[in-house]
Amino acid sequence: MVVGSACGKIILFGEHAVVYGRPALAVPLAQLRARARVESQTDAGIVIHARELGRSMRLMDGDADHALNAITRLTLQKLGVSSEVNLDIAIESDIPIASGLGSGAAISTAIVRALAAYFHRVLTPDEISALVYETEKIYHGTPSGIDNTVIAYEQPIRFVRRRVGRENEITPFNIARPFPLMIANTGIASPTKITVGDVRRGWERDPARYEELFDAVGAIVENAQDALARGENERLGELMTRNQSVLETIGVSSSEIERLIEAGVRAGAKGGKLSGGGRGGNVIFYVEEERAEGVREKLIGAGAVGVIITKVGS
Ligand code: PMV
Repeated sequence: MVVGSACGKIILFGEHAVVYGRPALAVPLAQLRARARVESQTDAGIVIHARELGRSMRLMDGDADHALNAITRLTLQKLGVSSEVNLDIAIESDIPIASGLGSGAAISTAIVRALAAYFHRVLTPDEISALVYETEKIYHGTPSGIDNTVIAYEQPIRFVRRRVGRENEITPFNIARPFPLMIANTGIASPTKITVGDVRRGWERDPARYEELFDAVGAIVENAQDALARGENERLGELMTRNQSVLETIGVSSSEIERLIEAGVRAGAKGGKLSGGGRGGNVIFYVEEERAEGVREKLIGAGAVGVIITKVGS
């Protein structure tokens, strides 16, 4: 039996604009993980058990487009193994689904790693990321590729999507001074595919206006990267608030997100923003360590269904 695991991720700055070629910054969440366990079994082909999703399926019977099936097939193909083998693949994950923490990409990555280990093969982060990207298309429609990249590399990544045929820009970025990041879950599952599609329709209606909004996000990302490199973490709160304001104009915020941000900032957070696809999912805050507990309590009082405090950059 072998086990593969993969971390969750959170986007600090730049979601949505990253789909349109602007940079984004994302970090791994090492304490939230998805795991896949692979073992041989006697005769049932490949069976995938996904307890959280409430289903088990045989690879051959399953919907070829289902992400779990797809990643299993693609990985076996990549490893040069026939899908006639008899395997049991069990998946479990601590990462809340559809909330911007990369659960889909982490589950797929865990499956790739477990299968590679089972067949005594080593795949590079780039190879893993490329396989997982294929399944991200099933979850997301037109994903930028940021989730699979950060999760496969498990490092803070500045990501710039390039046009088809050119390599995406993937650069680990420097965090001079680690900082606490608060992540509050709105409890609303919001599929990224829907918000990404809505932004696409907005851009099609008025490309010039959306390009300007994306440029504004790009400028915030550059500022944030500079602040992180210099250890000027106190600039992050205001930059989050500015990024949030552009995301509201783009149309991917929601009253629940804004209620949590207001409560967090009133309780002492220096700034906050939605993270990921928006309209639900998670809100992130820059909060100084000594204020974190107080802010957490207020966020729970304002309706957050869970609050994680993690250290970024350590
Ligand atoms: O919802 P998440 O965290 O998986 O991230 C989506 C990020 C978007 O920029 C909205 C879409 C993308 O593919 O980059």
